[in-house]
Amino acid sequence: MSLFASLNPPVIDWRGERIWVIGASSGIGAATAQLLLERGARVALSARKRDRLEAVAGTHTGALILPFDVTDVRSVEAAHKEIIGLWGGCDRVLIVAGQYTEMRADGFALEAARALLDTNLQGVLNVLSVILPGMIARGSGAIGLVASVAGYRGLPQALIYGPSKAALINLAESLFIDLRPRGIAVNLICPGFVDTPLTAQNGFPMPALMTPAAAAQALVRGLERGQFEIHFPKRFTRVMKLLRLLPYRWYFYLIHRFTGL
Ligand SMILES: NC(=O)c1ccc[n+]([C@@H]2O[C@H](COP(=O)([O-])OP(=O)(O)OC[C@H]3O[C@@H](n4cnc5c(N)ncnc54)[C@H](OP(=O)(O)O)[C@@H]3O)[C@@H](O)[C@H]2O)c1
Repeated sequence: MSLFASLNPPVIDWRGERIWVIGASSGIGAATAQLLLERGARVALSARKRDRLEAVAGTHTGALILPFDVTDVRSVEAAHKEIIGLWGGCDRVLIVAGQYTEMRADGFALEAARALLDTNLQGVLNVLSVILPGMIARGSGAIGLVASVAGYRGLPQALIYGPSKAALINLAESLFIDLRPRGIAVNLICPGFVDTPLTAQNGFPMPALMTPAAAAQALVRGLERGQFEIHFPKRFTRVMKLLRLLPYRWYFYLIHRFTGL
């Protein structure tokens, strides 16, 4: 492994690549699936809402609609079988599916916390359990996990969402260490604020808010460059990375100054 080469193999041409986008019915996942279809990839689109997946796929002939709930491992297995049966394999899996529930300690709700972890963390583990054996046996493949800059450090109003994304960051790092020598690429995707149904509930001004189309462009560019961590928009995520390095005293002080919380 070189200190200067890209951490994952760069992508030169998307044409013919078989990609499974999980969480493709809206927001970042939908825009990414559409962009990859436009670039000539074959894309399997999954999420719970079939009608939304069909609308996202439009008339693209390379699209495959496979609705399921990521918390149900049996339905993930069934969709994977269908992809392998129809395409003969799957080169890349992007796990974008996620939910956000605003929560602070004084409103702690165990059921809501469990539901969030079920989708954001358990859902990812369900997908990994289904795709890893085949990729490892083949010695090829690529896995992208969509976490968030909210996983860098504890933030206000993200009592459970933050830890779910912190877990994905750690998981992606460990996966990279284990899978790189086996020929499997791992990408960690950390968006800042993107204007999607997920952030529509936010009652605060979101700095450097991006459109889903711009987020998809940045995500796909990062995959093409073979980056391990793909974070965007840089003018916001670089600040979050700087905050990550600060001692706690400074970090808590600045968060209080910026948010009043
Ligand atoms: N928007 C942001 O500012 C932002 C910032 C950082 C990270 N992120 C992350 O980016 C990812 C995409 O978020 P987004 O903003 O694009 O939100 P979104 O528009 O709400 O999209 C979420 C996607 O996940 C799917 N999904 C949710 N629960 C699911 C389940 N149980 N099973 C299968 N699919 C499920 C949704 O489809 P169905 O409802 O049809 O199932 C939808 O396709 C999430 O992981 C989010 O945490 C977003």
